[in-house]
Amino acid sequence: MAAHPPSNRTARRLHAIPPTIFSEMSALAVRTGSLNLGQGFPDVDGPASVIETAVDALRSGHNQYAPGPGVPELREAVATHQARHYGLDLDPSSEVAVTAGATEAIAAAVLALVNPGDEVVVLEPFYDSYVATIEMAGGVRRPVTLRAPDFRLDLDALRAAVTDRTTVLLLNTPHNPTGTVLTREELDAVAQVAIEHDLVVVTDEVYEHLVFDGHEHIPLCTLPGMWERTVSISSAGKTFSLTGWKVGWVTGPEDLVRTVVGAKQWLTFTNAAPLQPAVAYALNEEAGFYEALAKDLQAKRDLLCAGLGTLDLDVYVPEATYFVNTDVRRYGYADAMEFCLALPEKAGVVAIPAQAFYDDREEGRHKVRWAFCKEATVIEEGVRRLGAADLYR
Ligand SMILES: Cc1ncc(COP(=O)(O)O)c(C=O)c1O
Repeated sequence: MAAHPPSNRTARRLHAIPPTIFSEMSALAVRTGSLNLGQGFPDVDGPASVIETAVDALRSGHNQYAPGPGVPELREAVATHQARHYGLDLDPSSEVAVTAGATEAIAAAVLALVNPGDEVVVLEPFYDSYVATIEMAGGVRRPVTLRAPDFRLDLDALRAAVTDRTTVLLLNTPHNPTGTVLTREELDAVAQVAIEHDLVVVTDEVYEHLVFDGHEHIPLCTLPGMWERTVSISSAGKTFSLTGWKVGWVTGPEDLVRTVVGAKQWLTFTNAAPLQPAVAYALNEEAGFYEALAKDLQAKRDLLCAGLGTLDLDVYVPEATYFVNTDVRRYGYADAMEFCLALPEKAGVVAIPAQAFYDDREEGRHKVRWAFCKEATVIEEGVRRLGAADLYR
């Protein structure tokens, strides 16, 4: 069911929010029987032991509301994870809250921190829920563009985007869809800007463990002066290949976590009671899963990038995440949307027009995002189909 264009009953706050491109392209994949290299969900489920833990929880009475901020064992597991990986010392009772995926955490943070008219500085291309939640909060997005071919953070552009109306910086690293992992130098510069302008930074770190080639994910909150002004967000979806579970979390200083929970309690209040203990188990016992997953994804990135490299495309090899970006302009289409709409018929493959994630139309116009969180046989078949097709307009 398409939620766009708005009907005459649609509230104005939704008018400027485009429909999510993923529903449209995944429906296209089903309708045309194409291979879906579009939406970022893995073909293979996460650890069996974690799923069994959830089954046990379902069978042993974990079926009523969980506490609003999450079951204690998951909050403790998140705190232990932050200590183990990043040397952070969190109080699980006040500095951790569980959410319905990272998506609810982002929405709650933006609704709780952004007043109508406030400006939110956000990296472009954006994860599309940022656009929607900033709009719903009545905020104004101020994009800072990560530009091809390197997709590095332009520090002058960052400084120029901040005004006296800016209240929040919404940062995503490792970054979807470019695969950029912000370096310590880049994060230092972000920290400097945030401190100078007294901003809160909301960091979306859902790809924290899916990083390649020895790149290091550094949570911004670990930098000097940043703990007290950072809301850090992650979730089990990507880390444990359980995207349908929608179990996420926010961590940060007590006042910011309390503020975010203030909005979250009126969105879902709580969710996924039987899944929360299973995610606690996953965080405590299954670190090996995401270590192996990162290696596996790196090999799949290489497989897809090598295949795409044989086509008439510019391929931008990512440092992290599930996705690789390409520039398709040499195929002669007006834009990436036109290319992606032609692709199922021409090649039996679906990809995502990354222009949907840009305000800067020129920068986004010919970018296409491909997902490699798929089985190797699917990637190989996709590449074979693309290689056999005439992709020119
Ligand atoms: C950058 C980013 N943030 C958040 C999410 C959503 O996370 P969740 O499924 O935990 O709501 C995604 C999923 O694709 C994402 O790519």
